[in-house]
Amino acid sequence: MDGKIILVANTPKERVLSGIQPTHESFHLGNYLGAIKQWVDLQNTNDAFYCVVDLHALTVETKPEDFKRRNLASVAQLIALGLDPEKCTLFIQSHVPAHNQLGWVLECMTGFGEASRMTQFKDKSQKAGSDRTVVGLFTYPILQAADILLYQANKVPVGEDQRQHIELTRDLGQRFNSRFGETFTIPEGYILKAGAKINDLQDPTSKMSKSSSSGAGVIELMDAPEINTKKIKSAVTDTGRDVTFDEKEKPGISNLLTIYSALTGKDISQSQADFEGKGYGDFKGAVAEVVVEYLRPVREKANELLKDEAHLNSLLKIGAEKAEAVASQTLKNVYDRMGLIPRG
Ligand code: AMP
Ligand code: TRP
Repeated sequence: MDGKIILVANTPKERVLSGIQPTHESFHLGNYLGAIKQWVDLQNTNDAFYCVVDLHALTVETKPEDFKRRNLASVAQLIALGLDPEKCTLFIQSHVPAHNQLGWVLECMTGFGEASRMTQFKDKSQKAGSDRTVVGLFTYPILQAADILLYQANKVPVGEDQRQHIELTRDLGQRFNSRFGETFTIPEGYILKAGAKINDLQDPTSKMSKSSSSGAGVIELMDAPEINTKKIKSAVTDTGRDVTFDEKEKPGISNLLTIYSALTGKDISQSQADFEGKGYGDFKGAVAEVVVEYLRPVREKANELLKDEAHLNSLLKIGAEKAEAVASQTLKNVYDRMGLIPRG
């Protein structure tokens, strides 16, 4: 070297936070390809916090024994899908009370009209009617803002449907900072690419979702291989006979190609090339095999983890402690800046 000093960039890792609701026994392929897969990638290069948002899920009435099982099943699946508690902080929202505490503070800074404009609330409450809509559904996005701001997150990986909630989070963070001084990092949404949207196998123009489907078009990660093979082989296809990607004319085939491509890592044109000269039957058989073989070890690992609840609980305890250390510091600053007197 000729005496020059080489500076090795030691940029601190960015903070990532996201959450998922434990509303079902099993996540589906849309949840994995649209969200969880990105979480797994992001844990390698970021300081990532991921939480199972059990408090948000209380907005849907669920039997306690089902709820308990779904919470553990969600954690087990997240680990089986590749979240590594050594690389990320994986925890349950209700284990860190600061979420509710900051939630209240932010509720006191959110306009009624502002909260009323959240489209997810408007859609859900319109469907249910006002007497069957709980207030928690109205304040849901404010609790979500608390989840994010508590951790000083820079990036929040979510689906397109969460864009408005992230905007609210940014507004609330900025409002607090300008009234009380710099306290929160203002996060950016890390909105996943359109290609990550997986559609229902029976209704390939609408997204795969448990709430809007009979279930026949939804691939559940924890289902037995035979069930998923059957669902894929019965997927709705389109007129014509070539396996080509064309979302407008061939939504069914395109959806299956998206799934095949995401799970094999081949791009769409390579995936298409795999089926040149082959018919829909062969194609669906091949997609079924790829899906089933991809999910087999995931299901096995999740079931294995669920056999040892004490181990899962110990992982969650470590996660909660790491999360709490960050969250309680933020909450302390918030209370302090607002003039709340600390307990002596
Ligand atoms: P939800 O089940 O709607 O609470 O979604 C949990 C996460 O999975 C969110 O980040 C969604 O954006 C994502 N997600 C849900 N359904 C799909 C889908 N069909 N395709 C892609 N991503 C999805
Ligand atoms: N509302 C999100 C969803 O339905 C779940 C969620 C709760 C969340 N808190 C969060 C997502 C914080 C990202 C960050 O998908």
